[in-house]
Amino acid sequence: FRIPAPFNEPVLSYAPGTAERRALKARIGELSREELEIPLVIGGKEVRTGKLADVRAPHRHAHRLARFHQAGEAEVNAAIAAAREARPAWAAMPYQARAAIFLKAADLLAGGWRPTLNGATMLNQSKTPYQAEIDSCCEIADFWRFNAAFGEQILAEQPISSPGVWNRVEYRPLEGFVFAVTPFNFTSIAANLPTAPALMGNTVVWKPASSTVYSNWFVLKLLEAAGLPPGVINFVPGSGRAVGDPVLASPEFAGIHFTGSTAVFQGMWRTIAGNLPRYKGYPRIVGETGGKDFIFGHASADPDALATALCRGAFEAQGQKCSAASRAYVPESLWPRVKEKLLAQVASIKMGDPAEDFSVFMGAVIDRGAFDSIKSYVEFAKSSPEAKILAGGECDDSVGYFVSPTVVQVTNPRHKLMEEEIFGPVLTIYVYPDAKLDETVALCDATSPYALTGAIFAQDRAVVEQLGEKLRDAAGNFYVNDKPTGAVVGQQPFGGARASGTNDKAGSMWNLIRWVSPRTIKENF
Ligand code: SER
Repeated sequence: FRIPAPFNEPVLSYAPGTAERRALKARIGELSREELEIPLVIGGKEVRTGKLADVRAPHRHAHRLARFHQAGEAEVNAAIAAAREARPAWAAMPYQARAAIFLKAADLLAGGWRPTLNGATMLNQSKTPYQAEIDSCCEIADFWRFNAAFGEQILAEQPISSPGVWNRVEYRPLEGFVFAVTPFNFTSIAANLPTAPALMGNTVVWKPASSTVYSNWFVLKLLEAAGLPPGVINFVPGSGRAVGDPVLASPEFAGIHFTGSTAVFQGMWRTIAGNLPRYKGYPRIVGETGGKDFIFGHASADPDALATALCRGAFEAQGQKCSAASRAYVPESLWPRVKEKLLAQVASIKMGDPAEDFSVFMGAVIDRGAFDSIKSYVEFAKSSPEAKILAGGECDDSVGYFVSPTVVQVTNPRHKLMEEEIFGPVLTIYVYPDAKLDETVALCDATSPYALTGAIFAQDRAVVEQLGEKLRDAAGNFYVNDKPTGAVVGQQPFGGARASGTNDKAGSMWNLIRWVSPRTIKENF
């Protein structure tokens, strides 16, 4: 029997008067009244270490959402043992039965669980209803439904045989456990990284980002409700080193599915290299590690569309998408119109508590570390003779971690703000002379070590082709006349190369194939 044909979960509007809006508001009210105490979950059992840390709403320091127990070495080793124990039965389960658990989870999420996941994401990541809906409902459901179909496609891929010889390939899970390390910025990435390897028959040790243990906890509860057996995904929040070091030292470590910073990923890669003699095999290393995503405008672009893309691409979700537009190149001939329109849009951005006021466009940045780091870039811009703040530039942490949408114009295309990942609501723009198109395109390609997303705006078809060619290696997800954010599972497989990661496209066959170790079998008749 076949996996049902996947489809993208329709995005609900949450417009005033809709049933979904009422349900979400009611659920946020309930969630806000209850502070959680979140345990580790190892082999299906709750474990409490007593070593507690807080999760707070980014937009309201006073609102503690949860306290969670942090893992130490003993718990990490217990999680590895639980993954080992659960593996034989899970790997032996027919593919369709494993897939059915994730398909059911997707249906539960699109139904009664929707307000819970969206409400938790709004409270924990300071997202608006729309940003929560496309993340913690639609993208999660899409990952689960599409991955189920992609995995089936992989299993169907077989070599040719001939009379007297039957050749076949068996897609075995990896020999050991997979380590999932998930980021704060998308609940959907937190849901995908442990479940994609699990779908292919692996068992998993999952370390969620400490700042979002609250929203991620509901993902785990949803998977349990859908029938995920104990020990398949073991939930071990804690500090990066406390969890990562014993995991990477384990002889059973077979792969890592990671989204986070370049520095952390490179550090882990080095540790893995050093530990190679301990392991049974070469671990799979799959990671997505940030970007310095660009929008490149050409003189033939529609200036209004370009301005809108700059605003939405840079400031939705407080600029904390790995795909967010962070640097832009605008030709002098278009700049007056683009500037006017962009600054008008930015001036209309409402900032605040998105869980309380659904008309807010931007919430707060995730935590103290993010706030301080973004603020240091804003301060640098203020003191730089090569930079001018055109909008925003206010950082206020009195109630929550608020950074206003900030537009910086630089006269030097290699300015620090054009080169370094800021991961916040700061858009840096270089206005280039129209005659210097070629040099500026070359700069766009060479300025940052990353290559995650990028967008070009041009109406001239020849230019579209030419820029596409010249920027071929500058982005793993390349957009023509659209903002560089908002990849949809099944439509735009997501991932980048260079310092942005291993480009094993999340939500695609090419990602899932990393989680199996094929065995080729030849049988003579
Ligand atoms: N998939 C997200 C986007 O495209 C980023 O992770 O915006």
